[in-house]
Amino acid sequence: MRLMLLNTGPVATLASGDINSPLTGTDMSNTESLVLDGDNGILIEDDTISKISCTEELAEEFGTEDNSTLRVIDCQGKAIIPGFVDSHTHLLWGGDRANEMQLRHNGMTYSDIAKSGGGIQKTVKYTRNISNDILGELGLKRISRAFEFGTTTMECKSGYGLSVDSELKLLEVNQLLSELTQMSLHSTWLGAHDVPKGMSMQDYVDELIHIQLPAVVEQGFASYADVFCEPGWFSLEDTELIVKAASELGLASRLHVDEFVDGGGLALASELGAISGDHVGHSSASARQSASESGVMQTFLPGTPYILGHDLESPLKQCIENNWAFSLASDFNPNCRTLSIPFVGSLATHRLGLSPIEALVAVTRNPATTLLNSTDGPLSGSIRQGGPADLLILDSEYIDAWCQMPGDNPIYKTIKSGYIVN
Ligand code: NIG
Ligand code: FE
Repeated sequence: MRLMLLNTGPVATLASGDINSPLTGTDMSNTESLVLDGDNGILIEDDTISKISCTEELAEEFGTEDNSTLRVIDCQGKAIIPGFVDSHTHLLWGGDRANEMQLRHNGMTYSDIAKSGGGIQKTVKYTRNISNDILGELGLKRISRAFEFGTTTMECKSGYGLSVDSELKLLEVNQLLSELTQMSLHSTWLGAHDVPKGMSMQDYVDELIHIQLPAVVEQGFASYADVFCEPGWFSLEDTELIVKAASELGLASRLHVDEFVDGGGLALASELGAISGDHVGHSSASARQSASESGVMQTFLPGTPYILGHDLESPLKQCIENNWAFSLASDFNPNCRTLSIPFVGSLATHRLGLSPIEALVAVTRNPATTLLNSTDGPLSGSIRQGGPADLLILDSEYIDAWCQMPGDNPIYKTIKSGYIVN
């Protein structure tokens, strides 16, 4: 089947240089190499972009009317961007923690709430008790919401099971969702999210390494391992043990680090050759420099400090000035309930000093490079001939509109693998 977009406005191809590498520094805002101006036409055959040309040329070759093998969309000057790659989500969990905001207003911190029976442990209790069917339904609803907001590729973590059976169950449902939906899902095992009630840290780390990890590898659905490496949760030493064990069994790691304080997590991620250090709000400049030199992506998740009422301050401009590779993602979880990458883009541009094009690179091409061992074909995150047909038609003639409608949706159509999915 063919789908043809005619009369587009500007197209943010983001396809300059080696698309397997992230863009950094001024390359993130070089619109000459990142954007095609004017009136473009895009031909999609099955799940692939087969031609990028001008409207006239495509119209001459294929006509402008729908027929039995061709669907034509007249974009009327609307801007086109790649589908978003949300490289950090906790997609599957049950229950509700909407009461926690008032607790924070009453003076409790994230850690106080966790110690008093809320937080991750509360979600674990709910999640363990719901069936695969209900988890699957929750996942389907969330994926369709993510499509509406323009996400076409997602990383999704387990981590609300904290036992062999329930962690495997979460990964199994992720797998099922990737088979049932068009969304490209990349699964991460996050058994090391917290210590289950009634168990010591030492015993749980033993269980993670000797029981959960081998079972997860045998199940074969997870591509990555993650650890919540933060004072009060998993130490640097335990993180190292888990990451090394995972790496020996073939799982690369993407890690939660330096969310509340600089605990040395990003520095460790670099030593261990992790793919990505996520949160990184409090990492030191020297750790960021080492991350850059070791090819570790810094993934900022500004929705989380926004929701926790913390200072949003993140050195995004410093990343640009120093040519440090970085991404932005949603961190969708029961505490941070947004699947909207455009909202994350609003935080990055309205509050954190990025330009819309820099922020766009950080939610498309850059995170896509952290999901390289994709089983679903060529790398997403850019628009190019021969690349995957994952792209968005915006409700605007301007590319910059993608992140300028907080609370609203700038996406007119989401196209995933050549299908219109919203
Ligand atoms: O990335 N910080 C650790 N994990 C999640 C939150 C988990 C939760 O509060 O349920 C995060 O923000
Ligand atoms: Fe997270």
